[in-house]
Amino acid sequence: MKIILLVILSAIFKSTVALSPTNGYQPGNVSCPGGQLTRSASDGINSDEQSYVDARYTAAKQALGDFLKKSNLSDFDVDSFLSNANPSLGIAVSGGGFRSMFTGAGELAALDSRTKSDSPVLAGLLQSASYLSALSGGAWLVGSLVSNGFESVDDVISQGQIWDIDRSLIDNFGITSPIKQTEEWINVAQDVNAKRNAGFDVSLTDLYARLLSYQLLTTSPQQDGNAFLWSDVASSSSFQNHQVPFPILVSDGRAPDSIVINSNSTVFELTPYEVGSWDPTLNSFVETKYLGTSLDNGSPTESQCVNGFDNAGFFMGTSSSLFNQVVSTLSQTGLPSILQDLINTLLVNPIANTNIDIAAYNPNPFYKSQNQDTTISKANTLYLADGGEDGQNVPLSPLLYRKVSAIFAFDNSNDVSNWPDGSALIKTYERQFSSQGNGIAFPYVPDQYTFRNLNLTSRPTFFGCDAQNLTSLTDNIYDVPLVIYIANRPFTYWSNTSTFKLTYDDTERQGMIANGYEVATRLNGTLDDEWAACVGCAIIRREQERNGIEQSDQCKKCFENYCWDGTIYTGEPLGENFSDEGLTNDASEFNSTNVDGINDGGTSVLKRKL
Ligand SMILES: *[C@@H]1O[C@H](CO)[C@@H](O)[C@H](O)[C@H]1NC(C)=O
Ligand SMILES: *[C@@H]1O[C@H](CO)[C@@H](O)[C@H](O)[C@H]1NC(C)=O
Ligand SMILES: *[C@@H]1O[C@H](CO)[C@@H](O)[C@H](O)[C@H]1NC(C)=O
Ligand SMILES: *[C@@H]1O[C@H](CO)[C@@H](O)[C@H](O)[C@H]1NC(C)=O
Ligand SMILES: *[C@@H]1O[C@H](CO)[C@@H](O)[C@H](O)[C@H]1NC(C)=O
Ligand SMILES: *[C@@H]1O[C@H](CO)[C@@H](O)[C@H](O)[C@H]1NC(C)=O
Ligand SMILES: *[C@@H]1O[C@H](CO)[C@@H](O)[C@H](O)[C@H]1NC(C)=O
Ligand SMILES: *[C@@H]1O[C@H](CO)[C@@H](O)[C@H](O)[C@H]1NC(C)=O
Ligand SMILES: *[C@@H]1O[C@H](CO)[C@@H](O)[C@H](O)[C@H]1NC(C)=O
Repeated sequence: MKIILLVILSAIFKSTVALSPTNGYQPGNVSCPGGQLTRSASDGINSDEQSYVDARYTAAKQALGDFLKKSNLSDFDVDSFLSNANPSLGIAVSGGGFRSMFTGAGELAALDSRTKSDSPVLAGLLQSASYLSALSGGAWLVGSLVSNGFESVDDVISQGQIWDIDRSLIDNFGITSPIKQTEEWINVAQDVNAKRNAGFDVSLTDLYARLLSYQLLTTSPQQDGNAFLWSDVASSSSFQNHQVPFPILVSDGRAPDSIVINSNSTVFELTPYEVGSWDPTLNSFVETKYLGTSLDNGSPTESQCVNGFDNAGFFMGTSSSLFNQVVSTLSQTGLPSILQDLINTLLVNPIANTNIDIAAYNPNPFYKSQNQDTTISKANTLYLADGGEDGQNVPLSPLLYRKVSAIFAFDNSNDVSNWPDGSALIKTYERQFSSQGNGIAFPYVPDQYTFRNLNLTSRPTFFGCDAQNLTSLTDNIYDVPLVIYIANRPFTYWSNTSTFKLTYDDTERQGMIANGYEVATRLNGTLDDEWAACVGCAIIRREQERNGIEQSDQCKKCFENYCWDGTIYTGEPLGENFSDEGLTNDASEFNSTNVDGINDGGTSVLKRKL
């Protein structure tokens, strides 16, 4: 009896977790599914994605209703409102290395109904969200959570299996476990060599991503994630049960030796179903699972197709390819020769030599796609780089195309002293006026000087509060999300650690996560006991406007408090320190003597000359 049960269970396990056909890092042949493997972006949202989001929305809407009922909205009947309206929510987590990953972890924990907390101010909003987009350090957070069964941040920390980074990814086990460390190095080198021997170009991203996976994918079905695919996320049980906001990682298309800025980058979306871009320079998507297949205008050129290219760690590494360079900081002495040889080979590659941040996707899935005569469709290799390289460091673009009602924009960028100054939003705002912007509207935002001096980075700020004010940007004013902008700032921890700080001990990590939680909850609800209600007002706003429903007096007051009102600041600078309420000159509330972590700046590997 027991044996039969085991057989059945293992059959179920096998059928739900696909994993790479080779059971290793290298892709392998599978039979082709038939038909085109690419499609035009003009067809709209991917149909599998749409079915997933629709199926999840039933539960998400229920969770949103529960949140709104608990949020102390006055003069508002939640049930009757929701019977005629479908507000939807997206969450975007910025880049910024482990600073963003851990601050973001605290922010997601604040929205998560599973988090144990005495002040569950915004709890339930993660369960209400339809989409979760992330790039670079944010992609480490979202990528590792969804690859590990969408565990809560609390569980990740208490189980202690992943995110253990008191040593950096280049010496994960360190001198205390030299045998395990050597084993890791050899395994990583063998993985990357196996991919190359299977006929695929490899780049530093492969090597870096395998090292990263030892910190982020340790508990995923395959040891250290070497056979765990981004497309496998779709067959995980949390996803099958629609518990996961649809995850989207972001990366920038960047041809070698070219520079991208926000008006000419190609913003790539990497979902468990598809990889591609809405931008005019591509306007195509390919099935994630079949990446690695040689395609000509979307049709396989060989009798066999390929699976296993879309390794989840490789995707996280692609989105954060700025960190490829850490590989070059590996001390060459003491490395096993197989790894040393691999590094040397990768570094002398002429493209890698001058474009160390680039991930090679070869064969290019978009070769001759849509018969478009663009740089991307003409190339044999598709080159992807860190999603933040075009300055749009908060991955908003995917959420704009999906027309959500409201977006949590968690900005943990390093603009000034490793604090954000609104630049990420400004880039996305400006992009709509370029041809790459495709006419996708984003609300008005002010300049960086105003962001900082009107305290828009020291407390949450709403943008696009009044759809009627967007008519000069678009005709479809109700499709433009209201943006709930939440910038990193210190409450109980100096969370402006360097982007390239690669080691955090448990105390530092906890300091960052707790501070992120406080940033999202407005210091655990103590700064504004109506914060939950005000967030509720923001989420329901577009649907109210669409249906011609007047805001309550309470929501009007919230909007006076939190909406940017169009003011541009031109006065004297107010200084760089933070108080509870906003920027202040004297640092009386938060300074090096009463907030931990001020000296936790990381080593800057960027300064290292190759
Ligand atoms: C709603 O109000 C009650 C009573 O004032 C308070 O205990 C509770 O914390 C509030 N809920 C939120 C989410 O702010
Ligand atoms: C805020 O709440 C979290 C979760 O309950 C807690 O860990 C943290 O210590 C609180 N912060 C402050 C400043 O009280
Ligand atoms: C993007 O614009 C920048 C600045 O004008 C330019 O240097 C770069 O070559 C452009 N890149 C591409 C890919 O067009
Ligand atoms: C995979 O298929 C291609 C042709 O489609 C063939 O050249 C290659 O040898 C096959 N690889 C393996 C490992 O069977
Ligand atoms: C309203 O629209 C005008 C342009 O018509 C813009 O300058 C202003 O910043 C907008 N106000 C807000 C609060 O978005
Ligand atoms: C910020 O506070 C520090 C003390 O922690 C002080 O040395 C510095 O001058 C302050 N900066 C500004 C701009 O007020
Ligand atoms: C910004 O914060 C400072 C310090 O708390 C305060 O003096 C100032 O009035 C705030 N500015 C605005 C526009 O709220
Ligand atoms: C730091 O803040 C405390 C109040 O929290 C204040 O007493 C102290 O003077 C401040 N120190 C500096 C250097 O500003
Ligand atoms: C963190 O912010 C403070 C205040 O702006 C600044 O003095 C300090 O240098 C910053 N730390 C890092 C590591 O950038």
